[in-house]
Amino acid sequence: MEKQIADLQIRAQSAENEIKFLTQEIDNIKNGFKSGCTVFSDDEIPKEVSDMLVQNNKLKYRLEILKKAVAEQESKCVESVDSMIRIQGALEKVFASAIEKAYPDVPDPPVIIAPSPKFGDYQCNTALPLTHLLKGQGIKVSPPAVGKKIVEHLHPNPLIEKCDVAGPGYINITLNKSYAAKILTSIVQNGIKPPNIEKRLRVVVDFSSPNVAKEMHVGHLRSTIIGDSISRVLEFLGHDVLRINHVGDWGTQFGMLIAHLKDKFPDYLSVSPPIADLQAFYKESKKRFDEDPEFKKRAYECVVKLQKFDPDYTKAWKMICDVSRQEFQKVYDRLGINVIERGESFYQTRMESLVKELDLRGFLEEDEGRKVMWGLVKDDSIPLTIIKSDGGFTYDTSDMACIKQRIEEEKADWLIYVTDLGQATHFQVLESCAKRAGILKPNVRVSHVGFGVVLGEDKKKFKTRSGDTVKLTELLDEGLKRAMDTLVQKGRDKVLSPEELKAAQENVAYACIKYADLSHNRNNDYIFSFDKMLEDKGNTAVYLLYALTRIRSIARTANITSEQLKEAAKTTTVSLEHEKEWKLGKVLLRFPDVVLDITKDLCLHRLCEYLYEISSSFTEFYDNCYCIEKDSAGDIKTVHMNRLLLCEASALIMVQCFDLLGIKPVSRM
Ligand code: ARG
Repeated sequence: MEKQIADLQIRAQSAENEIKFLTQEIDNIKNGFKSGCTVFSDDEIPKEVSDMLVQNNKLKYRLEILKKAVAEQESKCVESVDSMIRIQGALEKVFASAIEKAYPDVPDPPVIIAPSPKFGDYQCNTALPLTHLLKGQGIKVSPPAVGKKIVEHLHPNPLIEKCDVAGPGYINITLNKSYAAKILTSIVQNGIKPPNIEKRLRVVVDFSSPNVAKEMHVGHLRSTIIGDSISRVLEFLGHDVLRINHVGDWGTQFGMLIAHLKDKFPDYLSVSPPIADLQAFYKESKKRFDEDPEFKKRAYECVVKLQKFDPDYTKAWKMICDVSRQEFQKVYDRLGINVIERGESFYQTRMESLVKELDLRGFLEEDEGRKVMWGLVKDDSIPLTIIKSDGGFTYDTSDMACIKQRIEEEKADWLIYVTDLGQATHFQVLESCAKRAGILKPNVRVSHVGFGVVLGEDKKKFKTRSGDTVKLTELLDEGLKRAMDTLVQKGRDKVLSPEELKAAQENVAYACIKYADLSHNRNNDYIFSFDKMLEDKGNTAVYLLYALTRIRSIARTANITSEQLKEAAKTTTVSLEHEKEWKLGKVLLRFPDVVLDITKDLCLHRLCEYLYEISSSFTEFYDNCYCIEKDSAGDIKTVHMNRLLLCEASALIMVQCFDLLGIKPVSRM
């Protein structure tokens, strides 16, 4: 649809250009600029010119038809059910074209559209800055006059009821309610369709990425939760997402792990070694590595063997990785995370050839025995260490090979890395080096999605009471226990069946952990508190999940199913007449804009704030508008189907938001 419109617009544009050209030509001839000084009066024009006039009139007629077709297609586009329209986006387009028509000589005029809580429904605040720009060109006009001129050039659009210019040129936009109601009704009828994107991108999302044999800690939990949600948002929008777990499964620590394994379990090739407590095993080997020079030497030899893919050493390495993998998988299963494991080891051969290439092309510099690579600007940064003094590769080397692989083999248009903010410099330098080496072209977008540290309630680094780092599985267990306590406190164990109770417990536990993380601006440190996240007031998962079950129970009291609502939506339209209905409706209509905005800064707290806003405006609506009226005996007297449809649209959008956050709502809790 968008393409059709664009084609029509191009054709209209070229017709317009031709008309301009012909008009100029005709004028030139008539005024004698072409044929010496002969000036022609209207009734003695040469044949050449009259032909041109005929041609020009034909073109003008064609232009009108094309313009009509564009308008028609545009309005159809809004009604099409395969995508949900972005109100803000649509207004931006309509106003951009009006501004361009009104002021064709202002280059890149600002188009400022925002929802307006007081005057109209949306506001266009372009007039003031535009007045300044015009002043710069020596044109003196008042902002209200600019506002008026913009409105005069607006193309009629089914979304807009009317526009008023107020104060210093603010254009207050009143939306067309019946049109808005159509959109919301279509949600009930057809479900939520993602808004249109300009281009389907291949996106690699690198997240979770714990390290083998080391703790998967709360930092990795944050990366897992945020990365999963970002992937969900991009997948929903129709992008081609590759979720990658860049596990730390390579490097010198494997030397000592393998050397220790060989010493402790010499028959490891035939009998599986009991190393379930891999962290303890890691600690033992690290101790030996630090204290025993002979062991250290052997550990280094093991690394060399492993990196040459010696089969026995590869087998030992695989055993160790498997133990970690099983541990990690437990966390992913519980949280419902899908991710493809592709650890640092995957890049070994790619690292070898890349390093050769970088060296050959003169990018590597000696630095106290190491070989380093500087990014585009040498002074204000640090270099990447490509080869260590012992000849081994580093985290930097694997990330360089990895960025090349993702661009050249995966054909990525967008690379996203989700790690703590402590790695921000690493990713900046990586990006710069990849650009310098010509691996990273300007058309590939790179985003480091950083996040703050997880703190305990004492605002110190998150630790257990005894001062150890918190194990993730234990943390999730604690979440389950606390969730159950909360449910029992509310007496839910008496109302729900054992299965329902268990489902509620799991959902509440994992939802609250995810939501607490996602609802905070990821750039800040965040305090992990089960007490806070399990509160049933404010912007918490528990509050919102309850809000959703309450909305869903409204229709249920009248014995109306989702299917029946869908059916009803064919003949009844969502009601938006009451002030509170309209307020809620407008919030719901913002959904596509909210989701698309997330792709700009990858901040998911915006989606959480939006979810909270839906539930608050829903409460206001429900307090003021009857959906179902009962008589004094408690029997249902009237069912306001048009309001139940608004409830259903709210519920559907909330469910979709929860889904984007990786949260599963329960029907009863
Ligand atoms: N394993 C690393 C860590 O625990 C995170 C890896 C992130 N991804 C990457 N391509 N560097 O800090």
